[in-house]
Amino acid sequence: MEQNLNSEILDKLTKVCVCKGISKATIKKAIRNGAKTVIEVQKHTGAGGGPCGGKRCTEKIEQLIREIG
Ligand code: FES
Repeated sequence: MEQNLNSEILDKLTKVCVCKGISKATIKKAIRNGAKTVIEVQKHTGAGGGPCGGKRCTEKIEQLIREIG
């Protein structure tokens, strides 16, 4: 329980998309709500729309889809 709480807090603090400040918690929520591809996650969260054009976050989003998608 405490473990879950800690990882939830960590997810909120961890930015997956640094450019847009999108947290891991937000990305996970989008996947749980049905986003199945990187494009869908990006559309729902705004991740990938920053100056790096998704270079720094696309792989992390793919990884999360594999983990919980
Ligand atoms: S880190 Fe996501 S667009 Fe740059």
